[in-house]
Amino acid sequence: MDSIRIRGGRPLEGEIEIFGAKNAALPLMAASLLTEETLTLSNIPHLTDITTLAHLLAQHGVEIGMDGNARRGGNAGRVLSLRAREITDTTAPYELVCRMRASILVLGPLLARVGQATVSLPGGCAIGTRPVDMHIDGLARLGAEILLEDGYIRARVRGRLRGAEIRLPFASVGATENLLMAATLADGETVIRNAAREPEVVDLALCLKAMGAEIGGIGSDELVIRGKEALSGTEHDVVGDRIEAGTYALAAAIVGGDVELAGAPAPSLRALLDYLASAGVAVSETPRGLRVRGNGRPVAADVTTQPYPGFPTDLQAQAMALMAVADGAAVITETIFENRFMHVQELRRMGADITVRGPAALVRGVDALTGAQVMATDLRASSSLVLAGLAAEGETVVHRVYHLDRGYERIEDKLAACGAEIDRVPH
Ligand code: UD1
Repeated sequence: MDSIRIRGGRPLEGEIEIFGAKNAALPLMAASLLTEETLTLSNIPHLTDITTLAHLLAQHGVEIGMDGNARRGGNAGRVLSLRAREITDTTAPYELVCRMRASILVLGPLLARVGQATVSLPGGCAIGTRPVDMHIDGLARLGAEILLEDGYIRARVRGRLRGAEIRLPFASVGATENLLMAATLADGETVIRNAAREPEVVDLALCLKAMGAEIGGIGSDELVIRGKEALSGTEHDVVGDRIEAGTYALAAAIVGGDVELAGAPAPSLRALLDYLASAGVAVSETPRGLRVRGNGRPVAADVTTQPYPGFPTDLQAQAMALMAVADGAAVITETIFENRFMHVQELRRMGADITVRGPAALVRGVDALTGAQVMATDLRASSSLVLAGLAAEGETVVHRVYHLDRGYERIEDKLAACGAEIDRVPH
């Protein structure tokens, strides 16, 4: 398995291009199941999670075409065309679902389009138990009969799904997306209260509207959907990846330098930008995206993860790497996932001073981290180790790079182009 080798201490200077958001692209791809016409998605990042979902969709009968050289407005994202002319198989098998939890996003669309779906339960995962009860309860409210059997969710509905009022106990991103997609083909009106407001949910809703869906309240915590008999195809440009952009912003902050993040969706990064400002990092919006200048040691600043528009849990590990070298002590509180501190042990091996108590980590900044061999068990934890490696004295080797490849396209090339001493060591 490949690893990433970093020699720390080199400031980042230059421009990094931000690609389309993985977490927007995945539900958008699943939305192709809702129509027999072609859905064309541009600005698709080249990531293993995208490939995994493409395999699953192909298994359901979706014809998929990819144009690797497409360029739009300077963005080198790929264009994916998906056509679910006919659903040939309604089972999402364990082998594919266990690789990526977002596979659960085919459940709502399959059920809405053909009245049945059998999807493997995603099961436990490294960052917490992550149940799917809200997806299941919501679909049951829409009239589905659901059985949990042999590790599978077996869902079916006689006739069409029926619109209903659903209140989510927590603003789950995935449950909101699954129910939103299902409701577009339901009979009558659906109201989703306490809906997630993440920009990726908004991007999905906008695409569904372009496909002919009637959706009110986009961007708010209450979505009102009036179901249609059928949806049509459309073309949609995937929103820029705020988590990729945020990760590179934190990279510039931790190692210093001056970086422009072209294509960074600045308005959706407000919580991070405020945080960086309180840590003494200079951030400004530019016509192309964001400019981040890290000069000197960051100042310790507390952070608490929250659903959007709060500080994203997907940037918590990277913020912790920054605080590990900050001047002072910061409390980092994780409220979204119960077990998202696996990076702590590895950061400690690099010399960080971190104590965890329940959902809070006390990070006492040290003068310098030291390079080490590290590995992480999830995607964002892995990127926090890359950031720590950029700032550390000596050599860091981050193992299990497949986690990074799930969510960051060519991370080592992008950082190397800005002056970092970083490369991939193939195995
Ligand atoms: C999505 C993102 C992930 C991000 C997360 C929170 C994708 C592909 N992934 O994941 O990167 O970290 O949002 O912003 O978009 N929960 C339940 N029952 C459910 C559903 C969720 O208890 O039925 C819990 C989860 O265990 C977790 C919390 O709700 O503690 C948030 O999960 P959710 O918002 O659903 O995250 P995902 O959609 O899985």
